Amino acid sequence: MSGGKIPREFIDELLSRVDIVDLIDSQVPLKKTGANYVARCPFHTEKTPSFSVNRTKQFFHCFGCGASGNAIGFIMDYRHLDFVEAIEDLADFLGVEVPRETDYPAAPNKANLTALYQLTGQVAAYYVQQLRAGADGKKAADYLKSRGISSECAHEFMLGYAPDEWQALAGRFDPLLLQEAGLVVSKDNGRAYDRFRQRIMYPIRDKRGRVVGFGGRVLDDSLPKYLNSPETVLFHKGRQVYGLYELLQKQAKPERLLVVEGYMDVISLSQQGIGYAVGVLGTAATAAHLDLLFRFTPELVFCFDGDRAGREAAWRVMEAVFPSLKEGRQVRIMLLPQNFDPDALVRHEGAEQFAGRIKNAQTLSEYFFGQIAEELNLNVTEGRAQLIDKAKPYLDKLPEGVFKSLMFAKLKSLSGSVAVGYLENQTKQHAPAKGLGLLPDNGRLSSVRVAMALLLQKPGLVTKVAAKNVAWNTLGFPGCGLFDSMTQLMLQKKPANAAVLLEYYRDTPEEKTIRALAFLDLYIAEERIDEVFDDALSKLLEQANELQIEQLLAKERSHGLDGPEKERLRGLLAKKH
Ligand code: UTP
Ligand code: MN
Repeated sequence: MSGGKIPREFIDELLSRVDIVDLIDSQVPLKKTGANYVARCPFHTEKTPSFSVNRTKQFFHCFGCGASGNAIGFIMDYRHLDFVEAIEDLADFLGVEVPRETDYPAAPNKANLTALYQLTGQVAAYYVQQLRAGADGKKAADYLKSRGISSECAHEFMLGYAPDEWQALAGRFDPLLLQEAGLVVSKDNGRAYDRFRQRIMYPIRDKRGRVVGFGGRVLDDSLPKYLNSPETVLFHKGRQVYGLYELLQKQAKPERLLVVEGYMDVISLSQQGIGYAVGVLGTAATAAHLDLLFRFTPELVFCFDGDRAGREAAWRVMEAVFPSLKEGRQVRIMLLPQNFDPDALVRHEGAEQFAGRIKNAQTLSEYFFGQIAEELNLNVTEGRAQLIDKAKPYLDKLPEGVFKSLMFAKLKSLSGSVAVGYLENQTKQHAPAKGLGLLPDNGRLSSVRVAMALLLQKPGLVTKVAAKNVAWNTLGFPGCGLFDSMTQLMLQKKPANAAVLLEYYRDTPEEKTIRALAFLDLYIAEERIDEVFDDALSKLLEQANELQIEQLLAKERSHGLDGPEKERLRGLLAKKH
């Protein structure tokens, strides 16, 4: 990825150039039915197709699982890519280059990056060849064998060996690329030496299989036991996990992932038949790790050693993951018996027993309340009150949603009746705000909702809104803020379709509403759309007038009106008739 932001205009252009029907059809064959194209949903298992793609709006939507979005969203979900990767993928699909707003002179350009990946791949292959046929290959292979690793398994993880030479790489590969990839260390004399020597080499691959970095282990007890690649343009420890690529080769959507600490844990578990472990490489799990992993599975089981350090690490991870927990994301905590790491334990007791532990791992809420309540006596009032004091600051950090409500419910039941009232006040505050008031209580579509849905279907209608020359956001009806921001955006950016507009709302609170509106089908015939839209706009203005009249009348009764206010009221009443 080269430096600099991707210009907004480029994203708009991509979305107006791509045809989402072609794009999706190239991955998931679509059938035309009426105005839409349908298929069995790629995001959940189903027998009858409820996945539907609309060409006019450039949108997909699944009536079964609720997945929806534009071309970028589809690529992100379908190929498990992040936003920037999805843009690059989409640009690839259209055969164009991704421009950047700034190009740092120091940052490698695109060709450079390709060369870097090529280099790391070649270096990994070189280490593999050293393990197979190098001078110390036998010693290294024996070490792996002594740790129970078969040659198939070594092959799967592309394990290798860095020979006992200072310039094995330096003599064979481009020095600048080696430097950039963190594979050499420059000494005072200006010469570069191989970072890894006499070590078993573990290539770290990104989810697309490109080698981004390495870990290297000594064959004996010398220190440091492991060396790792430094942070480079390719390798970011906080965002990479070990073993993900290897795992996804076997299973694209695993039921759960086991998160362990070490290279050897991942490999040994895989060797023993537990092929769904990833390693966080000696760092604490970050929110970025979680976001990455939850793209592939709904459940993460964090595995820790049973000693004090392990228990402390478990608590730290729990604190770190709390803010990213929500429904659909299950986290479990698994503490191993004293003196075992996953590698040792799985070899000691076998895969079946070990898998049983994974299944029985404590849910995060069990673990959380267990830890919090550990030194409290819940049989007495004070203990239960303390439970609330200790737990609440954590629960408050949870994002709004079902999971949060469940945790509060659990706290309520654990703390018993003492605090019920106190908690209830708190939970009310956490109740989700009621949409944007787009659906009135009688369940009928509000005029503002109709107007926005039609705008998304036919962006050209926005000229009608502009012609009214009204400051919509001041009108006070529910949803008027979004209506105003949406029409402003449409006037300024002239999005070609709903998909382009949606992109401006990515990761904002309004995103969900826009998506829902974009797929709302009002079943209005093409030739009647203008008429219905005009009608919705008039209704909106009427409602806004009513509202202002009511407010002015109320004020007149309570405080009286000043001159300009009386004038306004007269004007509004006149419009009414
Ligand atoms: P461990 O010390 O638990 O090692 O460190 P391990 O994975 O069980 O290794 P073996 O079984 O002795 O071969 C866990 C992880 O912490 C990082 C590595 O990623 C390691 O896998 N680590 C550890 C380092 O980066 N450097 C070190 O010196 C030690
Ligand atoms: Mn170990």
